[in-house]
Amino acid sequence: MNIDLSEAAKAIDKYRDKKGALIPLLQEIQDIYGYVSSQAIGMIAHELNIYPVHIYGVLTFYTQFYLTPRGKHTIKVCQGTACHVMGGKELLDYLADKLGVEVGETTEDRNFSLERVACLGCCGIAPVIMVDEDFYGRCTIKDLDALLDKYTEDDSSGSLNGNVHNLHKKRNKPKSN
Ligand code: FES
Repeated sequence: MNIDLSEAAKAIDKYRDKKGALIPLLQEIQDIYGYVSSQAIGMIAHELNIYPVHIYGVLTFYTQFYLTPRGKHTIKVCQGTACHVMGGKELLDYLADKLGVEVGETTEDRNFSLERVACLGCCGIAPVIMVDEDFYGRCTIKDLDALLDKYTEDDSSGSLNGNVHNLHKKRNKPKSN
């Protein structure tokens, strides 16, 4: 895949003479492209005289970085203790099966990326999933179908699926009970 790296080049120039700037540089490149491509890694290595293996080491150490393109929506399924007890694993398995991806992957249409997370900090409404910035508590398998529909329909028509109104959605992170 050909990627326009002109913005990456600008970011590299910005951090070129700064010490300890690799992580902020990688963050900026990820902000621009949504992930850090192998082409960008090659460019950083060449321009800043860093071994690519060192850059990969940083990228794989920190979970904030992605090496592949991300979906338009990121679904995070909590696998903390409370959510696990309340069926979080079943939710994760169902989503992986339904979307046809493994955890950490993105659907072919680039609409969804699926992630597993530890406690999201709202155990009182377990099991919890998060789609982009929104929390959904006491999720059931049926709710997941409605949610996938909602985030797919939102993209195509802007309409909402009424089923999701039954979910315990919070714009901001709710407090744990
Ligand atoms: S264990 Fe899932 S929100 Fe705490």
